[in-house]
Amino acid sequence: MGASTFLPGVSGAPRGIAYGRRAAPTRRWTSADVRPSVQGRTQVTAVERAAAILVEQARPLALRAYDQIPMRSEDLIRQVRLVAPLLADRAVAFVGDYDSASALIGLLGAHDAPCPSHMLVLDFDDRVLATLEMIARRHGFADRLEVRRYNVFDPVPPDLVGRYDWFYTNPPYGASNNGESGRLFIARGCELVRRDGRGCIILPDDANRPWTRRAMMATQQFMAAHNWLVRAKLDDMHHYHLDDDPHLASSLLLVEHVADAYGVRRAMPYIGRRVQAPEIPHFYGRRVAPPYPAHIPVDIQAVGRRA
Ligand SMILES: C[S@@+](CC[C@H](N)C(=O)[O-])C[C@H]1O[C@@H](n2cnc3c(N)ncnc32)[C@H](O)[C@@H]1O
Repeated sequence: MGASTFLPGVSGAPRGIAYGRRAAPTRRWTSADVRPSVQGRTQVTAVERAAAILVEQARPLALRAYDQIPMRSEDLIRQVRLVAPLLADRAVAFVGDYDSASALIGLLGAHDAPCPSHMLVLDFDDRVLATLEMIARRHGFADRLEVRRYNVFDPVPPDLVGRYDWFYTNPPYGASNNGESGRLFIARGCELVRRDGRGCIILPDDANRPWTRRAMMATQQFMAAHNWLVRAKLDDMHHYHLDDDPHLASSLLLVEHVADAYGVRRAMPYIGRRVQAPEIPHFYGRRVAPPYPAHIPVDIQAVGRRA
């Protein structure tokens, strides 16, 4: 990738971080792979800060009604630092990405940090997709980032099924439906990856917020029931620009499909079909009623409703 110009006068790896293009790891990853990154340096470098500011300033206005609630920049940087080495040289599908983790990974990748070989961002918001595409084009990683309009209520387009090494999602948490909103995003992610695929999921799990505990329990049971193992879980990793609960923290889960656990891949609910809004009550909380928009157009005034 060419050098990015988002921080004039600064190029190469951020100081203090052992970045550098790595060959794809041949051994299996474990939670030990992420531990050093968590315990490691936390000081944000100039390159990381500039990249995060760029992303933050480029993002369209967040639509709170549809759960667009940006992660705090320092947490997003830490998150990207943590996962980028795992995703390096892999094909990664992002299911929703208002946070713009893909763009931050790409920007730092243009400065020799680990970077996926291919990133596909699926989102129902054209503004998010256009912004990510613009950042990638301007900063030298358009060859690695592809965007496609997609609504999780629709089946995964057949040409994308089973194509990716990893999925990545920071979904709506489903505070009013025991986490089911998140599980629709996760099921779509699971369908996008190959038989021994992996996933990076961001969800809350907080003893002071019992709904998060119950939702996390249901989601882990859902994963296990469909042959997905939680290989690592790091709590209290991220906070959000969330006015009504600024202290809500989310966890990072790294999951892996055990392809041969039962000889066959057990089908998850929702896979291969369209989901009707009433199947998942309160998808965006109790205050947002269906019909939900099929997509968010670049001209937000023209937002349409599903028939
Ligand atoms: C729901 S937000 C979750 C909060 C997260 N911190 C964020 O803002 O990215 C994640 C992404 O899902 C997208 N999204 C919401 N509803 C969707 C839907 N029905 N289909 C596809 N993407 C959707 C949003 O546009 C956003 O980019």
